[in-house]
Amino acid sequence: MKYLLDTANLEAIRKYNEIFPIAGVTSNPSIVKNEGKIDFFSHMNEIRSIIGRDKSLHIQVTALDTEGMLKDADRILNAVDKDVYIKVPVTMEGIHAIKKLKAQGIRVTATAIYNKIQGFLAMEAGADFIAPYYNRMENMGLDPEEIIASFAEMAALYHYPTTIVAASFKNAGQVDKAHIAGAHAATMDPSILVSALQQSYITNAVAGFDADWKSIYGDCTISEL
Ligand code: E4P
Repeated sequence: MKYLLDTANLEAIRKYNEIFPIAGVTSNPSIVKNEGKIDFFSHMNEIRSIIGRDKSLHIQVTALDTEGMLKDADRILNAVDKDVYIKVPVTMEGIHAIKKLKAQGIRVTATAIYNKIQGFLAMEAGADFIAPYYNRMENMGLDPEEIIASFAEMAALYHYPTTIVAASFKNAGQVDKAHIAGAHAATMDPSILVSALQQSYITNAVAGFDADWKSIYGDCTISEL
């Protein structure tokens, strides 16, 4: 299982990349919008300098046509670095762009995936990552676990080297279910990880341990014994 941060917030990336076992950072134009009118490339370069070259950085194209997507990819790779995974929505123009990018050996993350054929086509076109949208599928009455399981099954059956990075999460339970269904990775806002570890049953348990220890040893911790 891999956990990626689905945010462009530098403070959050700095903090949670340090705390959690993070494999990379993803964003999309809506996530970028949350940061205001940033200097896009210096911001993306800053994210890279925080996470380093060993972790994956996924940056989405904004053009809607194939030619524009290829130009966006070229600009991203020149302005950030050649290791960036170019995120391309799986539209008809997008699948065309994915084929062309892969023919040039460029790393690709196929995104905005809601149905099986989008994921299957992206795998066949050589996408390195495919990003099924878990919560958005649920909102549509689809079964994201079944769809993710199909991707995992086909990836194994046909030996596609594709990593399934499930996306679009609103809570930790969805993330767990995506992993159990066969996603190799999941990308999420860090608040999902933070709130999963701050549930009252956890903090109450820890408060109980603390009170019991202090009832015997006072404020003296183990390291101070
Ligand atoms: C991944 O990068 C996706 O774009 C993102 O997870 C979508 O999430 P949303 O459904 O919360 O917009």
